[in-house]
Amino acid sequence: MPIILAIESSCDDTSAAVLKDREVLTNLVAGQDVHKAFGGVVPELASRSHQKNIVPVVDQALKQAGVQPQELDAIAFTRGPGLLGSLLVGGSFAKSMAQSLGIPLIGVNHMQGHILAHFIRDGEDPQFPFLCLTVSGGHTQLVIVRDYFDMEVVGQTIDDAAGEAFDKAAKMLGLEYPGGPLIDKHAVNGDPLRFSFPRPKASGLDFSFSGLKTSILYFLRKEVQKDPGFIENNLSDLCASIQHTVVDILLRRVEEAMTQYGIDTIAIAGGVSANSRLRTQLQEASESKGWKVFIPKFEYCTDNAAMIGITGHYKFLAGEFDEMNATPVARWSI
Ligand code: KG4
Ligand code: ZN
Repeated sequence: MPIILAIESSCDDTSAAVLKDREVLTNLVAGQDVHKAFGGVVPELASRSHQKNIVPVVDQALKQAGVQPQELDAIAFTRGPGLLGSLLVGGSFAKSMAQSLGIPLIGVNHMQGHILAHFIRDGEDPQFPFLCLTVSGGHTQLVIVRDYFDMEVVGQTIDDAAGEAFDKAAKMLGLEYPGGPLIDKHAVNGDPLRFSFPRPKASGLDFSFSGLKTSILYFLRKEVQKDPGFIENNLSDLCASIQHTVVDILLRRVEEAMTQYGIDTIAIAGGVSANSRLRTQLQEASESKGWKVFIPKFEYCTDNAAMIGITGHYKFLAGEFDEMNATPVARWSI
């Protein structure tokens, strides 16, 4: 039953988790409000915040887990993909700590982490093979998962990611960054069919969201010219309609992929899997189409170190360790 400390610092959240076997003892996340004023993540500010947060977050995670550093069997950290400066902070910290304790270091792929979060011990695990829709601020992928480290991307975005589509739409509506959760919140009381936006075309199982962004922009410009209070007066309906469109684009592709590959199990992962409409629509599909649906707990949807810890756990069992010269990687396919 290995005890693993995991560190995630790929973007704008500093997170540390302690896992014993597949059980999460602690999973702490320090967010970074500093980016709000800029409407997006400022890489240099993110690195500096990671530097400020990493020691207290790791310290608290160990204390709350009741685990002494000497009891750790390995340290897992996000090696990529992500912002280089941010990855460097978590990676350097993980290396120093592993070296001082004389324990193995495990570099983890962030996107594999999002998917393997489904194997954290807290309910039924998906059976291989399954399809995973990984939707975050930087990625939108359809992945066939045949085994823990046997994954194949069969569809992905050719431009913006789903989370980016939410965030950019939110920005046009005057909402703060990250806008995905705010669109979700305002959509609750809105009419999803009030405004209709085009479904962009991409070939095969790929996705495209940049056309949607442009059509929202032109639509808002035109309406605001006629009525300067248009956004304010229709915020809930706008959010509900945008959310409906994005979720619809995602689910159409999911259905096509399930049919094409003859798979009946679907899992979702990544920040956008926290979206309430995506979650309820999938639950409905599970009943109407007989799919087995796996939806992560909220805390394992957005970036967190527990998902890095569970991936580290399986790498530990496979004896897959990294050397001290492992460098961060900005782009790293799964
Ligand atoms: O996985 P994640 O935490 O970070 C990345 O690796 O990118 O995903 C962050 C993304 C952001 O774009 C955020 O707006 C989106 O996930 N997100 C949501 C919701 N919660 C987070 N999008 C829609 N609805 C939500 N409830
Ligand atoms: Zn992520």
